[in-house]
Amino acid sequence: MRLLAAAAAALLLLLLATAAAAAELPEFREAPAFRNGAGCAGAPTIHIAMTLDGTYLRGSLAGVLSVLRHAACPESIAFHFVASSASPPRRLARLRAALAAAFPTLPAAIHRFDARLVRGRISSSVRRALDQPLNYARIYLADILPRSVPRVLYLDSDLLVVDDVALLWATDLGPRFALAAPEYCNANFTSYFTDAFWRHPAYPAVFANRSRAPCYFNTGVMVIDLDRWRAGDYTAKLEYWMDVQKQEARIYELGSLPPFLLVFAGDVRAVQHRWNQHGLGGDNVAGQCRELHPGPVSLLHWSGKGKPWLRLDAGRPCPLDALWAPYDLLRRQGARDDLLAAVA
Ligand SMILES: *[C@@H]1O[C@H](CO)[C@@H](O)[C@H](O)[C@H]1NC(C)=O
Ligand SMILES: *[C@@H]1O[C@H](CO)[C@@H](O)[C@H](O)[C@H]1NC(C)=O
Repeated sequence: MRLLAAAAAALLLLLLATAAAAAELPEFREAPAFRNGAGCAGAPTIHIAMTLDGTYLRGSLAGVLSVLRHAACPESIAFHFVASSASPPRRLARLRAALAAAFPTLPAAIHRFDARLVRGRISSSVRRALDQPLNYARIYLADILPRSVPRVLYLDSDLLVVDDVALLWATDLGPRFALAAPEYCNANFTSYFTDAFWRHPAYPAVFANRSRAPCYFNTGVMVIDLDRWRAGDYTAKLEYWMDVQKQEARIYELGSLPPFLLVFAGDVRAVQHRWNQHGLGGDNVAGQCRELHPGPVSLLHWSGKGKPWLRLDAGRPCPLDALWAPYDLLRRQGARDDLLAAVA
């Protein structure tokens, strides 16, 4: 009996220690300050939205650094970070502190995303990481961001921008599209939905009235006209398909991507492929190394199962992960010790 109590106590201690470790975030070093160049007077404010959480923090900070480093007018960029309302205040304070440590002068707002909005709408996917509520925050940007923000560039937290983001920001959405993204019409569009979807008497007709044949696009890089989004009530349209998936039939296997395809595919303003060289994380299940798609590169996106910081830490990087490493702001224990030794 006493042995059992001791075992239970040990287990409790272990759980507490694990919880404490989970609440701690790594330390980050300060990025250089980036200043506007000549010719930035009157430059438009570029609004960029990214999620902010402990799991992807290192990727988010690297992404921000990459955006700033390549922008001609870095001080004209306003970052909007979206954090889950499920994060307790202490957790949020740590995220804020990490952001401030890396970018002390960055104009950045942290917005809360009410995870309860999607909890009842998420159906399990082939990869658990895709089922996190924050992964769905991009659906709610029109509600999360202030009305004064007319357009936003949504960026995933596992990418690097290696070109001036102002070029992407300037995308002409034409007279009526609400969303622009690189399209991949060679991808097998049929395979993003199940047989239950394609055999349904009504569902496939959703694509009947689009401007063009529907094509796959990746939702990790999107230019969104928020005024048009609100006017078109696109959040409700995305929620509709999530409810179909959850309550009526399993119509797709991946997380937040298929609802976007259902609502927008065929009505997307196509952006050059260089702005989303995706899939560098590898396969969704196995995570094998990938190569770049042919053509120029303005944005590298480690979508898929593998993330460069995890592979680098594990000592098993993919060749392209070497491109990510210079943007890593993680303060290494060894490096800090060296620094302290040098100062002492
Ligand atoms: C596309 O995917 C569907 C369903 O996964 C499959 O039946 C079809 O053969 C594929 N088409 C091509 C051209 O590969
Ligand atoms: C498709 O568009 C036409 C013309 O805009 C409209 O009359 C028709 O009702 C639409 N069909 C569907 C299924 O939305």
